[in-house]
Amino acid sequence: MVDKQKIHLTVNGTAYDREIEPRTLLSDFIRHHLDLTGTHVGCEHGICGSCTILMDGLPVRSCLTFALQAEGKAIETIESLDKNGELSPLQNAFWENQGLQCGFCTPGILMSMKAFLEDNPKPARDEIREALSGNLCRCTGYHDIVDSVVAAAEAALSSGTAKA
Ligand code: FES
Ligand code: FES
Repeated sequence: MVDKQKIHLTVNGTAYDREIEPRTLLSDFIRHHLDLTGTHVGCEHGICGSCTILMDGLPVRSCLTFALQAEGKAIETIESLDKNGELSPLQNAFWENQGLQCGFCTPGILMSMKAFLEDNPKPARDEIREALSGNLCRCTGYHDIVDSVVAAAEAALSSGTAKA
């Protein structure tokens, strides 16, 4: 029996204190301990990007991260994007531009693109493609995903928020 360790962190603005086994992955912690199942787990070894979340604002593969590494950190998952059931501008851009098909890759892509657009609010298409290179999508061929990110950037700029 492995000794459990205490963890304190914030997820989507809510503070949590839990006791977990040290080997618990952040992806499992988010999905199974907090019931936030919007974060998807595909390859489980850092290739597909489906499990991407933000840790202190930076994209992180939660399947390659121990939950204890998130001690004291602020985590954002896909569940943080909509507000009271209203899609965020980034989600809306994907909806309007058919930026998803099966949707399995979408949470990871949205979290990666959220961080990317905050860093680069007016990206060129090739910059978007490069930023997407860590997120695999088996369905879309990426064209509509790039269109969605362009639309999200344009919407943020025209609203003056520069926030996706
Ligand atoms: S499930 Fe984490 S990168 Fe694929
Ligand atoms: S929409 Fe199906 S894997 Fe990307």
